[in-house]
Amino acid sequence: MKKNTVLGLEVPCGPNGVSVITVLQAIQGYYGYLPEEALEKAARELKVPLIDFYSVATFYKNFRLAPQGRREVVTCTGTACHVRGSEKITEEISRTLGVDIGSTTEDGEYSLKCVNCVGACALAPLVIVDGRYYGQMTSLKVRRLFSDNPTKTEQTVSSGLSE
Ligand code: FES
Repeated sequence: MKKNTVLGLEVPCGPNGVSVITVLQAIQGYYGYLPEEALEKAARELKVPLIDFYSVATFYKNFRLAPQGRREVVTCTGTACHVRGSEKITEEISRTLGVDIGSTTEDGEYSLKCVNCVGACALAPLVIVDGRYYGQMTSLKVRRLFSDNPTKTEQTVSSGLSE
C-alpha cells in the first residue's frame, strides 16, 4: 500500500490521498491520544478544515482527545450488564475515582470508559480493569476494588472481592 507522510508519520494513502481517519490513527498511534496541537498542524499541512478532524475524532469511540490514564477502567453497558445494574456500578466508579466517563483522573492514574457487550454476559454486571475481568460487581465491590490502600486492594482482588 502506498504511504504518505503527515507530521513526519507514515500514513496509508488511498487513490484520493490520505483520509482524515488514517491520519488520526497515525497521530494516536504515536502519541497515545490526539493532542490539539498535532490536529491543528495536521489540518494545516493537509489543508483540511480542523473541524473535519474533530468530527471524526468525536464520532468514533476509539479516538481519545486526552491522554489515557496509567490504568484503564471499562464498564460494560450492554443489555445483560444494563439490566443487572451497570449504570449504578458506573456511577459508583465515577464517584469513587472522581472521573467522568470518557475522562482521566487529574493525577493521570485512571481512565474510565463504557463499552457495549464484550461477550462475558454471565459475569454481568462486568467491570474490566487493565484487561482483568471483575464480574457480578456491586457498589461495595467497586469501593473495595478502588480503595486508596493499594495493599488492601490487591488482597481484595486476589480474594475475589467476596462480600
Ligand atoms: S452485556 Fe456486558 S458482557 Fe455482555
